[in-house]
Amino acid sequence: MTVSLSRHGDIALVRLDNPPVNALGRAVREGLLAVLAETEADLSLRAVVLAGAGKLFVGGADIAEFDAPPQPPHLPEVLARIEAARLPWIAALHGQALGGGLELALACRFRVAAAGARFALPEVNLGLIPGAGGTQRLPRLIGAGAALEMAAERRMVSADEALALGLVDHVAAGQVEEDAVAFARAALDRPLPAPVGARPVADPGAAFWQEAAARIAKAAKGQAAPLAALEVMRIGVERGFAAGSTAERARFLALRDSDEAAALRHLFFAERAAPRPAALRGVAPVALSAVGVVGGGTMGAGIAAALRNAGLPVVLSERDPAALERGLATLRGIFDAAAKRGLTTPEEAAARMAGVTGTVGLHGLAGCDLVIEAVFEDLAVKREVFGALATICAPGAVLATNTSYIDPRLIFDGLAGPDRCIGLHFFSPAQVMKLVEIIPLPDTSATVLATGFDLAARLGKVPVQSGICDGFIGNRILRRYRAEAEAMLRDGVAHWAIDAAMRGFGYAMGPFEMQDLAGLDISFLHREAARARGEAVPETPGDLLVRAGRKGQKTGGGWYDYAPGDRTPRLSDKAARIVAPLAGPARDMAEGDIVARLIAAMAAEGQAILDEGIAASPQDIDLVEVHGYGFPRIKGGPMFLTARQATRG
Ligand code: COA
Repeated sequence: MTVSLSRHGDIALVRLDNPPVNALGRAVREGLLAVLAETEADLSLRAVVLAGAGKLFVGGADIAEFDAPPQPPHLPEVLARIEAARLPWIAALHGQALGGGLELALACRFRVAAAGARFALPEVNLGLIPGAGGTQRLPRLIGAGAALEMAAERRMVSADEALALGLVDHVAAGQVEEDAVAFARAALDRPLPAPVGARPVADPGAAFWQEAAARIAKAAKGQAAPLAALEVMRIGVERGFAAGSTAERARFLALRDSDEAAALRHLFFAERAAPRPAALRGVAPVALSAVGVVGGGTMGAGIAAALRNAGLPVVLSERDPAALERGLATLRGIFDAAAKRGLTTPEEAAARMAGVTGTVGLHGLAGCDLVIEAVFEDLAVKREVFGALATICAPGAVLATNTSYIDPRLIFDGLAGPDRCIGLHFFSPAQVMKLVEIIPLPDTSATVLATGFDLAARLGKVPVQSGICDGFIGNRILRRYRAEAEAMLRDGVAHWAIDAAMRGFGYAMGPFEMQDLAGLDISFLHREAARARGEAVPETPGDLLVRAGRKGQKTGGGWYDYAPGDRTPRLSDKAARIVAPLAGPARDMAEGDIVARLIAAMAAEGQAILDEGIAASPQDIDLVEVHGYGFPRIKGGPMFLTARQATRG
């Protein structure tokens, strides 16, 4: 039974039981109407307590239903009938009440919260607004200011905050269902308050709405939903509950069908599927009590920080005392910066640093269950490291390389115990970026692969398994993306026009701005090395810029000029003259066409990657692009976007 009814004397107890999160799918909505009819008809009852089974009250509407037309009974109607019922309903809230779950609670006459309960309207994360009265009832309960923070600005509130705001009437000292029954009995002795939807709401005035709209639009970064939440809330506050509810439902339904919401739903499910590949079901990972990191550069320190942020003890190894000191200083800098930004307390930052043991050489890593190598991208150096680790570490310890381009089979070739070797490709800055590419070798054991996934989950990262190819999934697509941008340049499209188009699409920067930030010299050196080996690598515009001393931001110029201490790219006549010999006759290309050509190139490379079995699914490729390469989340990823456009014709 998804909705069950029991009786405690004259109080009915309705319990929702729809694992895993009691989502308000069609069966639950029907069940609610059925128990409503039963309780309304039972004249021996005086109130209804509504609770959720399992670890939370309700996680929201059923997101899995959103790709099909809405099915009756619709949630707003169910809630309107609960609100208008003869018997008062009392929500008993534990765990979380999110989205539709909070809206359901708002339709009840009273709300009783368990001590640790939390409340939010996270619909904007899915490109939506609350669709069942959340933007209308909430301001009538807690005021427009606080309601807007929850509905449009992702604010989550604790039980105590909810009590202070008036969102809940009581915080349970004991078991929430029992407390709610006792609360109901006491409440019945007093006159009932009006239903929430019938209560008055103060209008904070035009200036408030305008300021809030400006703030919300700025933070929304092109997303439509947050501002829509404000607009419908304002209608309800200014023109009344009925007008507001009609506007809310219409906007909700329109957003539900939008590309933005479809993209965000796609990622919601992809992100939840990623940590649990079917092939690893039931496979236990290696238990990690200490993790070693070899190399204290930007990448090694970032990985060490990510490990410490997740509470794992770390041993950081460098080749000499000076390098170790630099690595530890980098790490300390990361923790201190987090404390300065208020992400942790200074005490917590100190505790994280205290959990790092520095060691010179590799012998100090003997006690680690997993060692991640993050040294210079050089095959011989990496082989030397693993040759030593294979004898120093226990036979069951996992050995991982963070290489971004070198074939891990070459790195581990000939090593004893090949089943314990794996690639774990983090992205810089590793303490921030969510993506980890997990690269098994032909002999990697299921246990070791499961350890990679387990580690990613513990670090709060998004794991994507990749087969072995040059650049794995992400850098291979990046190379194709850059090559296509360069091909457009040769066709006469200006680099700044290409950058502007990709920024307009939602990237933080375009492909040429990105090269200036990362530095043009590294890929130049790769090309030069290949040429020295006799490979036919054609001259690129990047080669011309580097030869002219323009390596990017670090030299004050690359594709653009930069003023000292300022990262703003400025158009450069000099750069234009330098690359002119390789640029085609100037021509204009519409922004939409530039974007379409670059996305098509990425999707084509993604398809090749799928065809070769390097990635398991289009979703995995989209996760790589969104979490590792700045692809705008509201566009869903190159594979999703291309497929959606194709179905539209
Ligand atoms: N509708 C449908 N399925 C949902 C869901 C929802 N609202 N919320 C969660 N699920 C599913 C997940 O897809 C996952 O399914 P799976 O096990 O088949 O992969 C399962 O419930 C568990 O979710 P997960 O996020 O892994 O669990 P958690 O315990 O870490 O978090 C929540 C639980 C509810 C906090 C989290 O899932 C969440 O934030 N959900 C979305 C809430 C929301 O946006 N509600 C508004 C909807 S309009």
